[in-house]
Amino acid sequence: MPRPAPHVLPRLSCLVLLTSLAGLAAAQGPQSAKPAAKSLPPVVHLTSEQAHQRMMRLLHITSLRPGANGMDPKAPNYANYDESKANPYPRLPDPLRLNDGKEVTTAKEWWDKRRPEIEEDFDRDIYGRVPRETPRVNWEVTKTTDEKVGDVPVITKELVGHVDNSSYPLITVNIKASLTTPAKAKGPVPVIIEFGIDPAFLAQMRARMEARGVKFPPPFPGPTWQEQVLAKGWGYAVLIPTTVQADNAAGLTEGIIGLCNKGQPRQPADWGALRAWAWGASRLLDYFETDPAVDAKQVGITGHSRYGKAALVTMAYDQRFAIAYISSSGKGGAALYRRNWGEKVANVAATSEYHWMAGNFLKYAGPLTAKDMSVDTHELIAMCAPRPVFLSAGSLEKGDGWVDAKGTFMAGAAAGPVYELLGKKGLGTTVFPPIEIPLIRGDIAFRQHSGGHTPAPNWPTFIEFASRYLHASPASAGAQTHAP
Ligand code: GCU
Repeated sequence: MPRPAPHVLPRLSCLVLLTSLAGLAAAQGPQSAKPAAKSLPPVVHLTSEQAHQRMMRLLHITSLRPGANGMDPKAPNYANYDESKANPYPRLPDPLRLNDGKEVTTAKEWWDKRRPEIEEDFDRDIYGRVPRETPRVNWEVTKTTDEKVGDVPVITKELVGHVDNSSYPLITVNIKASLTTPAKAKGPVPVIIEFGIDPAFLAQMRARMEARGVKFPPPFPGPTWQEQVLAKGWGYAVLIPTTVQADNAAGLTEGIIGLCNKGQPRQPADWGALRAWAWGASRLLDYFETDPAVDAKQVGITGHSRYGKAALVTMAYDQRFAIAYISSSGKGGAALYRRNWGEKVANVAATSEYHWMAGNFLKYAGPLTAKDMSVDTHELIAMCAPRPVFLSAGSLEKGDGWVDAKGTFMAGAAAGPVYELLGKKGLGTTVFPPIEIPLIRGDIAFRQHSGGHTPAPNWPTFIEFASRYLHASPASAGAQTHAP
């Protein structure tokens, strides 16, 4: 087997970890719980391959373009890392021009006309539509623990969101999350929700890797992101997305998507896993609106890699989220679809990833290309306006080239006019900044760190940016015992 190029190695270990976790999660994901009632159609079980083939047939697509090869520099389709070839389609759709060609010049036109047009395009072709009615979620606090994180006393609540499955009892969905807030807080605090990996799966994974003699990646030096958040007097929450929706196409007839479809396979414009995960985050925010420990008007969302995509989708679609930290989200996240750098649209359309998206997304890796999309990712960022968004990526040298830091920056820059129309500030430049130089003065922020495929190095910069927007009451902030 050809050796991967050195710069892809760190990304690979993270990928192997996420992919194995996805498998584990799927194996333990939502399952049929109650015996089949006679009147109910049974859950359809397809493999990921079969589900992918079925969707291609529905779309009358016979073949898809191959994605980029991220591992073998000698492969003919090795990923492009040459800037002179990175912009085959330099013209982006204008976020401030209506489909009928008229220019959008007022905030009212943005909210009433243009934003709904953009949302419709993302719904139909990119991420899929959430059903008009989704089941209620009944949140239960299953355990409350007084503990210390670093040297800060905290209260951690384990939460389970029981999704009402009375419409189709063959599928059970229990959303798993946790909430940690400073114990000495005198009132509700800002909270950052992370799309995270189940600690139990992580422990299992670690044990398995170590049993095989594979070293588990060491933690990033310095305070953890949770410690940094607590030092501001804020709290944090971790939501386990795979308890909402499995991270593979075989799981699309179960989880929340399967429950809403009564165990049947998706139609081309139905929601994919990213919107399902985002839906889960919105339901957690519903719970926070009822928990006096949380200031629900100051809740942020974050995620890395595929969960970076999910965090951006969450922020774009649910306007109650106050701020977002989008880490290494790549294609399907913040990086422009029209760029050719690292991962391509065709990678996301492949069997192992297309479940993140609407089935219709496959069209753009088949007969059509990214230039045929009526939207691009700058418009997803624009859907977050006027709320603050921090975009992050690591370095090519350390293995994060795949996610296209520059394409992420370009999307951020191109969302600027919408922020400005709404009285806010964009990135303030269209010139790609040198690595590690933060652009955090506006309401869209960007920093490329010099690490690999990880969110860790940019946490301090995100927190500096977020401190302009999130405020613990003085009493809560006083609960901290150290600064990062
Ligand atoms: C792959 C995939 C990316 C994704 C990443 C992840 O690299 O191509 O789109 O973000 O996996 O680990 O989530």
